[in-house]
Amino acid sequence: MSDILFQRQQIKAMAHRYRVNFINCLSGYKSANLVGTADADGHTNLAMVSSVVHLGADPALMGMVTRPRSVARHSVDNLQAMGVYTLNHVSRNMVPQAHQTAARYPREQSEFDATGLQAAWVPQFAAPYVSDSPLSIGLRLVEIKHLECNGTDFVIGAIEWVRLPGQALQEDGFVDLNQLDTVSVSGLDSYHPGAPSIGRFHYPKPDLPPRRQ
Ligand SMILES: Cc1cc2nc3c(=O)[nH]c(=O)nc-3n(C[C@H](O)[C@H](O)[C@H](O)COP(=O)(O)O)c2cc1C
Repeated sequence: MSDILFQRQQIKAMAHRYRVNFINCLSGYKSANLVGTADADGHTNLAMVSSVVHLGADPALMGMVTRPRSVARHSVDNLQAMGVYTLNHVSRNMVPQAHQTAARYPREQSEFDATGLQAAWVPQFAAPYVSDSPLSIGLRLVEIKHLECNGTDFVIGAIEWVRLPGQALQEDGFVDLNQLDTVSVSGLDSYHPGAPSIGRFHYPKPDLPPRRQ
């Protein structure tokens, strides 16, 4: 089969749902995380996100893109009000419940209760983590950058704590996601199991060929 080349006008002319699916696939395999938040009264909220990115290791920062302000964004409201949130890896056995958290539940309905995922708390930290999750990160809100081009927001958080099983942590700080059974997402609704690593490589140097560890 020969390749298809789509030009901008053809992409713009795609039916809405088709374009959403198509464009959401283009950034490749994405991480699957659940954002855990609570409001000032301790009412919890949980939402699926696939746009989490590493921003830097020192200071340890992570970013995520949230939908435009024109739609309900309970997680953003909570993390702005409380200044903290958690990110929780999705493992294979959590996928159906994790996907379900993306449903438009009313604000007063906790996605923890709706899906059966369990909330747990780190002392003195006002956002719940998902105890079913193999790896959770507590973040303190640093800033929210509004993106003029499409009305979305880029939420930046500083890592306050990380919880993971010790056996997945290697001597040099590398975390073996396969041991955690962490999944990835493609498009908006396709989940993928971890795959065996092709191998770790040494830091690349211009004058040396790629070197396996
Ligand atoms: C696979 C998947 C990935 C998603 N990624 C994001 C994302 O990166 N950012 C976002 O704002 N919403 C994303 N969503 C949509 C939210 O999960 C959804 O809007 C949710 O209802 C928001 O909940 P909240 O209003 O309680 O914060 C994603 C949904 C799915 C199923």
